[in-house]
Amino acid sequence: MIKQPRCTRGARQVTTMLTLGTCFLMFVANLSTVQAAWRTLDEARVTRLTFSDRRALQLDFAGGGRGQIFFVTPDVVRVRINPRGTLEADASYAVEDRGAARANVAEFAGSEDAPELVGSSGVRVRVNRAPFRITILDRENRIVYESDAARPAMFDSESGEFETHIKRTSQTETYYGFGEKALPVSRHGQRMVNWNTDTYGYPAGLDPIYQTIPFYIALNKGTAYGLFFDNTFRTFFDTGKTDERRVSFGAAGGELNYYVFTGGNERSPKKIVGDYADLTGRAPLPPAWALGYQQSRWGYYPESRVRKLAADLRRNRIPCDVVYLDIDYMDGYRVFTWDKTRFPNPKNLMSDLRAQGLRTVIIIDPGIKVDPNYSVYTEGKAAGHFVKDATGKELNMNVWAGASAFPDFTDARAREWFGSYYKTHLDEGIAGFWNDMNEPATFLPDQLNEPRIFHHPGKTFPLDTPHAGDGRPDTHRRYHNVYGMQMARATFESLKRLRPDERPFVLTRAGYAGVQRYSAVWTGDNVASWEHLALTIPMLTNLSVSGVPLIGADIGGFSGEPTPELYTRWLQAAALTPMMRSHVESAKLDREPWIHGEPFTSINRKSIELRYQILPLLINLFEEHARTGAPVMRPLWYEYPQDSLTYLIEDQYLLGSDILVAPVVRPNQVKRSIYFPKGTAWLDWWTGKRYEGGTTAEVEAPLTRLPLFARAGATLPIQPIVQHTGEMKASDVRRVNVDERAVFPLTR
Ligand code: GLC
Repeated sequence: MIKQPRCTRGARQVTTMLTLGTCFLMFVANLSTVQAAWRTLDEARVTRLTFSDRRALQLDFAGGGRGQIFFVTPDVVRVRINPRGTLEADASYAVEDRGAARANVAEFAGSEDAPELVGSSGVRVRVNRAPFRITILDRENRIVYESDAARPAMFDSESGEFETHIKRTSQTETYYGFGEKALPVSRHGQRMVNWNTDTYGYPAGLDPIYQTIPFYIALNKGTAYGLFFDNTFRTFFDTGKTDERRVSFGAAGGELNYYVFTGGNERSPKKIVGDYADLTGRAPLPPAWALGYQQSRWGYYPESRVRKLAADLRRNRIPCDVVYLDIDYMDGYRVFTWDKTRFPNPKNLMSDLRAQGLRTVIIIDPGIKVDPNYSVYTEGKAAGHFVKDATGKELNMNVWAGASAFPDFTDARAREWFGSYYKTHLDEGIAGFWNDMNEPATFLPDQLNEPRIFHHPGKTFPLDTPHAGDGRPDTHRRYHNVYGMQMARATFESLKRLRPDERPFVLTRAGYAGVQRYSAVWTGDNVASWEHLALTIPMLTNLSVSGVPLIGADIGGFSGEPTPELYTRWLQAAALTPMMRSHVESAKLDREPWIHGEPFTSINRKSIELRYQILPLLINLFEEHARTGAPVMRPLWYEYPQDSLTYLIEDQYLLGSDILVAPVVRPNQVKRSIYFPKGTAWLDWWTGKRYEGGTTAEVEAPLTRLPLFARAGATLPIQPIVQHTGEMKASDVRRVNVDERAVFPLTR
């Protein structure tokens, strides 16, 4: 969808004879293509401009396009343009409360030729009518956002594709967020695509992967702005890769609908992330048990194996709250059933596990086996809840269970219907649900004589598949990227309905902006390699500032086998990430903390004990998130935007604002260099040694411990070690002042 201006009427870019020649040939070949070619919005300059209700600027373009510019809060500007005509009905899966996206009061300033919209805190939007450009200025007259005058917005009236361009404030501006990307911590100089894709064993750099969150934070010398492009089609961002002077973004359809987060007076990342959370919602408080250690694998069956796991956890004194059952618990991969030979009495098993302080989470995929003797299928079919293909026939594609049908999760009725099946599992004592394969992912036919590329188009529904779209019917082109999130929503909302007094726990692989309202997210099928361990920090910190607090990566790597050293370092690195779960694919060694014997078992136990010791702090941080939208896991630049040395750090992270974690992510390393951000001192968790802010130090990092530091002056709530969250007692929580006591002995 990245197009150069092609044969545009009046386009100034057509300079070479070659281009002119090509245009002429195309013109001869098909007259209609001239109309359908990419055009600039310039041609469609603003012919009419109105200011309505003391709120919004309405724009009419010469080519028939329509637009609106308004403030949704004094610090957040929303721009909507439909190059093809009337604006669409204003709907969004991302925005939590539609009121949050509506126009706030503003003043009209400037003149009709040079109009300006002024928000109530003094932020201004300047509109240039011909050619059409937007400039947003903060109260101090600094440019927040400026359309790139050298590169007009382009659109293709035939395909619906469009792109627009922003002038970069500086060529050293860095960019963060963008949801889940297997990319370095700052995403400058990248071209990124959003299209939820099942990417088993994705290599570093592969893009896109499972999630779509078209939101970023730009940072330049301590000053930030944010941009959220609320468009569910296939979208892209180019952060200075194609041209180092500009940021571009665009979509394969829909509207140019975006929010600019000016960052208010302080222009800080904190303010931007908070404003984004106000718009797209915050994660509700998770159950405390979901913050404990979680043990998973693909292959925990039959029941006796699960009982042995529970016994091994307790015998080895490995604190743990959750065990997972993957697809093998089902009868022939039929969701909402049990394989009764493997699990003859789930209710008994659940209650025995619960008695040992263990909750069970089970996987639920979207595909429903086509089987006339399977009531979930026959009921769904009878009620018309399944997705149909473009010809009106039920869409059947292969997943684990073979040919399967798929609920249309963009239909409230289908969500409610699917959600109702969770009741039996809740009654059996299942505590949480894991929604996988919801990109949606489908299998390629075996006989297909084509390369198995990661982004093979046959790995999901055909693009012309219709969806209900909650009252706005359209094809999979528009709804692909929200399918997974709407499945997680179906799960979350039904758990809320069925157990109103409990906090739901849902884990999803695919999602769209706002997914945090319904679910935790894990980073899919990663790899047992040092490179992937290192990747967890830039991936998770960026996902975190994209509004999703409850996140984790499969510890040890999902595919392949980690060495004992790699698994041990991975457990350490993940000990203070928001979600801590070991998981592995089938037919590979268990990812159990004792699997490699001593000395690894003892070291691994210590990593998990550390997490439980810090759990009261972690719980507080989730409360803080639920109140303010602040992330739990934080990149260093988020807390220290004035310290540019933090901008590219990707092997350290902060838990809240008071704990600095510097995991070892390279093999055979027993020392590592650590940067201590400016403006505060840090105390070594294990030795009490003090490090001044703004310095880099070589710190001992023996395999036996995670390099960890507490901020001088902080007060940390910590507790004695417990085997699971059911053993926690509020009276045992100590508030430790880091000034007095910097060493935190593990107590039992
Ligand atoms: C997918 C998931 C993985 C799961 C497997 C089997 O690959 O990403 O976590 O174990 O399916 O259900």
